[in-house]
Amino acid sequence: VTESVEQLVERLCAKIPDHPEPGVLFRDLTPLFADADGFRRTTDALAEAFRGRFDFVAGIEARGFLLAGAVAYASGTGIIPVRKAGKLPRETYREEYVLEYGSAVLEIHTDDVPRGSRVLVLDDVLATGGTLGATAQLLHRAGLHVAGFGLVMELTELRGRARLGGHRVRALYRV
Ligand code: PRP
Repeated sequence: VTESVEQLVERLCAKIPDHPEPGVLFRDLTPLFADADGFRRTTDALAEAFRGRFDFVAGIEARGFLLAGAVAYASGTGIIPVRKAGKLPRETYREEYVLEYGSAVLEIHTDDVPRGSRVLVLDDVLATGGTLGATAQLLHRAGLHVAGFGLVMELTELRGRARLGGHRVRALYRV
C-alpha cells in the first residue's frame, strides 16, 4: 500500500522538544524537503488541490519560497515573493503582524502582477495565522484575489484557520 501524503509528511517531520523555548515542541520540515519523493509529492499535492483556481503563486519568506518555486514551475505560473521588511527595492505594500514569538513585517511590490489576478499563497506551516492573515491583507491592497492557502502542516491547537476568513485552506497534515 502506498503511503499517503499525510503519512509522508508526518514521517518526515522532525520534532524538537523545548525549541525555541521550554515547553514548545518544534516541528521541522527540512527532512521532508530533503527527500526527493517527499518534496515532489508535497508540492504536487499542493498544486493539485488548487488546480485551475490560480494565476500566480505567492511564497512567504523563507520556507514558503521552497514550495512556491516548485508549484509555480509545475503549474506554469509566475511567483510573487512575500518578503520580510526591507528586502524589496521598489514601492511596496507593508503589513505588520504579531508572531508566536514576537512581531514582524511583510511586504510585496505594488505592481509586479496585474490587479484582479488570482493568487495561491503557499507556506510550510500554519500556526497562529498571523503570517497568512497579513499576506491576505497585502494581496487585498494590491487588488489581488486570494485563491486559497496551501500549507504542508497546520498546528490546529493555535486556531490560525479562524483568522483566514472564508478562504479555501488546504493543509496536507493537521496536527
Ligand atoms: C514560520 C512559518 C510560517 C509562520 C507561521 O515562519 O514558516 O511562515 O512562522 O506562523 P503563524 O501562523 O503564527 O504566523 P517564521 O516567521 O519562523 O519565518 P522564517 O520562515 O523566515 O524562519
